[in-house]
Amino acid sequence: MSKQRVRKAVIPAAGLGTRFLPATKAQPKEMIPIIDVPMIQLIVEEAVRSGIEDVILVTARHKESIENHFDHAYELEDTLDRRAKKELADVSRSLANLCNLISVRQKHPLGLGHAVLCAAQAVGDEPFAVLLGDDLIDSEVPCTRQLIDVFQERGASVVGVMEVPHAEVSKYGIVGGRMEGDRLMAVDRLVEKPSPGEAPSQLAIPGRYVLDPAIFQCLRETPAGRGGEIQLTDGLQILAKRKGMYAYRFDGVRYDTGDRVGFIDATLAYALKRPDLAGPVKELMRKHLGGGR
Ligand code: G1P
Repeated sequence: MSKQRVRKAVIPAAGLGTRFLPATKAQPKEMIPIIDVPMIQLIVEEAVRSGIEDVILVTARHKESIENHFDHAYELEDTLDRRAKKELADVSRSLANLCNLISVRQKHPLGLGHAVLCAAQAVGDEPFAVLLGDDLIDSEVPCTRQLIDVFQERGASVVGVMEVPHAEVSKYGIVGGRMEGDRLMAVDRLVEKPSPGEAPSQLAIPGRYVLDPAIFQCLRETPAGRGGEIQLTDGLQILAKRKGMYAYRFDGVRYDTGDRVGFIDATLAYALKRPDLAGPVKELMRKHLGGGR
């Protein structure tokens, strides 16, 4: 049982977002909204609901709008107050108070492992969560919270996993090891985007991790891997050997919002969950599917 609290989360947000061009030409992909909430806000909210206090955002040039989103917008708030739209002004204010945001720059695009390493100083010598912005996970208990609970019970790093079809293993980091019950695996292998023949299992990591700070030293020792980049998964392989690691099959529905169809899937699912939108959206779907109005 590890008493160590997990107070910090690293959110890599330095990518160019080329998969979503042209939308990402002049705005960060993290600011693309699911209806009216930028994806990065949904990710930060998952972290905060999991008990995270400090969010370390790893950014790059042209990402300033993300920082502005989590700050006050005095002119806007003041104008809304004067127009008696206090509720909307409070939406803006609450974002500034959501968490303690620390921003660090990844100055060269050297890979996800390198992006996490850029946060080393801000994290220091304590366990921390990593949340990747392309994956939305909808669950009653936030996915990151589920992983923190396992971390505290087992005292070792934990990666969130989900089962994927055999043909899709090459899109993910894949874990291998020994199952301990229905949801937990003691991990001994991690492979970044293996071919179906090389994959040690069909359990894939969709971007949620709770890590021992020893990962930073492991990443310093990680050579460039797939695509010539320093891969987080390769660093995790070193960490698993050194300090042990678990994979946890989390409870929740995951949306791959880095993919166009996944993005539409998430948009519909989130709309159908909102009382103000569910009715009209169902009606629109009937219309588009040819059922008439
Ligand atoms: C990254 C990671 C991969 C992980 C995936 C989840 O890949 O390298 O291990 O499974 O995110 O979305 P990317 O999708 O950025 O290529």
